[in-house]
Amino acid sequence: MTRILAIESSCDETAVAITEDGKLLCNVISSQVAVHAKYGGVMPEIASRLHCENIDVCLKEALEQSGLKFEDMDAIAVTRGPGLIGCLHVGLQAAKTIAALYNKPLIPVHHLCGHIYANEYAGEFKFPMLCVVVSGGNTELVLMKDHIDFEIIGETKDDAVGECYDKVARVLGFPYPGGLPIDQHSKLGKHTYNLPKPLAHEGSYDFSYSGLKTSVINLVNQLKMKGEEIRVDDMAKSFQDVAIGMVVDKAARAAMEYNVKQVVLAGGVSANSYLREQMALRLKNTDVELIIPPLWCTTDNAAMIAKVAERLYKEKLFAPLTLGVDPNWKISDFRKFE
Ligand code: KG4
Repeated sequence: MTRILAIESSCDETAVAITEDGKLLCNVISSQVAVHAKYGGVMPEIASRLHCENIDVCLKEALEQSGLKFEDMDAIAVTRGPGLIGCLHVGLQAAKTIAALYNKPLIPVHHLCGHIYANEYAGEFKFPMLCVVVSGGNTELVLMKDHIDFEIIGETKDDAVGECYDKVARVLGFPYPGGLPIDQHSKLGKHTYNLPKPLAHEGSYDFSYSGLKTSVINLVNQLKMKGEEIRVDDMAKSFQDVAIGMVVDKAARAAMEYNVKQVVLAGGVSANSYLREQMALRLKNTDVELIIPPLWCTTDNAAMIAKVAERLYKEKLFAPLTLGVDPNWKISDFRKFE
């Protein structure tokens, strides 16, 4: 029997989960979203302090819910990056302390591997597999030829798609995080505004979102200056069509070129209803299966970190207690942590 205690603190959720032979025993999450909403985005210093306040509470709650003790664990897993440096430090220090006190192996986990492996709560992986990783900090197409084997075939050259959603939402007057309100309002609107699709027709699988973001901001400012009406629902729809359309087009093309058996969606933006619908539509008459993560898995949690850690435990991919965080850790370098 293998029991893993996993900790996640890379952004604005403090989370602890425990798995036993793959079965999720508890999944404790303390979200700071309401605090950061007041500032229109995550305030890194406040986030780190809240992690410090919440980590002990989450650990205690996880042990209580599972009825287990630290002594019962086989390994302590933790998100080592990418993420906000101060936030990552809190989780890592907690994990190292437990590992040192109870003499347990320490397993460093890449945050985006976690988002990908969250899909194992929805279905079994079949390879080769294409992972569409779309979040507040990343936009990547990742090819997996086997378990724990990641090759980035395309990535954003500037902003992440989630970041773009949040900035556009702010200019349209929606609260933070802006993904869900844009998704909801776009259902009430029509695609009437003409927005650019950077890198859309290029042969590569890379993305660019800063031009799209700037175009919406400029358009809204121009309309305001001219005293013209801003049709918020139409703007949301026009933006969503372009932002998600680029992901769907490139992902569908890559799925065919790499002859994948499965496509999985991962990260906060994978909660997007239009992405889920369009990706399914695009793969409908192909042999490619689509795995969509359950909504609870699209936000940050430690259950997904535990899923990856189970695999790494089998490989004995353990880190020394001198381990540091890496805010810019690349998914293809996830074995390099010394
Ligand atoms: O994965 P995540 O927590 O970010 C990182 O860890 O980097 O994802 C958060 C992002 C935010 O930008 C949020 O606006 C976006 O996911 N998001 C959505 C939706 N729900 C959340 N974006 C588009 N449509 C949604 N329904």
